[in-house]
Amino acid sequence: MKKDLLSIDDLTSDEIYLILDTSEAMREIGQRPIKKVPTLRGKTIVNLFYEPSTRTRTSFEIAEKRLSADTLNVAVATSSVLKGETLIDTAMNIEAMQPDMIVLRHASSGAGHVLSRVCKSRIINAGDGMHEHPTQALLDAFTIREHKQRIEGLKVTIVGDLLHSRVLRSNVRLLTKLGADVWVSGPPTLVPAGIEQFGVRVSNNVEEAVAGADVIMMLRIQQERMHGAFIPSLREYFNTFGMTQARVARAKPDVIIMHPGPMNRGVEIASDVADGPYSVILEQVANGVAVRMAVLYLLAGGAEAN
Ligand code: CP
Repeated sequence: MKKDLLSIDDLTSDEIYLILDTSEAMREIGQRPIKKVPTLRGKTIVNLFYEPSTRTRTSFEIAEKRLSADTLNVAVATSSVLKGETLIDTAMNIEAMQPDMIVLRHASSGAGHVLSRVCKSRIINAGDGMHEHPTQALLDAFTIREHKQRIEGLKVTIVGDLLHSRVLRSNVRLLTKLGADVWVSGPPTLVPAGIEQFGVRVSNNVEEAVAGADVIMMLRIQQERMHGAFIPSLREYFNTFGMTQARVARAKPDVIIMHPGPMNRGVEIASDVADGPYSVILEQVANGVAVRMAVLYLLAGGAEAN
């Protein structure tokens, strides 16, 4: 593995499968009465989150604690960032305290690459702007493989606000690398220019996009990143692209419904679909801990770290 995990492009197919296989073993640790192993004892991991997070920050912290790392969360809202300190200065000061890894979430695309250049610590990208969210794509792949026993050849349809989504960009890279047939669907204003070059099929007709799908992955409408009118109204968006039971019925009978969270119920997904029998949304969250344990363990050197 490379020093840092900034993008799915940092991983070969074999490394992705190694992470998924290692995640199986890590999940078993979470099912024990005492959910802790000494694997990363003596390692220090800093979680540096400049953007809000529920799932990613919590699951990284649980993963770090289950591996016995010394972990701390920098609360940006009470740090010297509020006094104007730059990302690089903040990182250099944290680096001076010699952590082994920094888990970074930041609103700017490429923030992890900036830290990677100035830090000896290993950098894990926990979401950078509209660029990538590699551990989300890995936990999504783990969840898909658990249900379908494979990824190659599956029709995976990703629907929603494609333009602003780092989850889309990491999933497209990972799923096409592993041979899935990836379709994307959303309003033309929310489809990134040139997305076809990543080997995906684009359809503005969601009924066509979900027909025969093995996996439907819904993406959140990211109003906080919209500076203008991308959609006429949330109601019209739901009517045209929202995932309803009628649309789910067009997919394969054993389709799974995914969403990285947080969800806008009644905007991109109906509540009876989000909570229904095909939904694996909370399984994705649970799997996030095991997958992040695997990433931390492998980046630390795997068996050689012990
Ligand atoms: N999926 C995801 O990144 O969720 P959070 O923003 O809550 O971490």
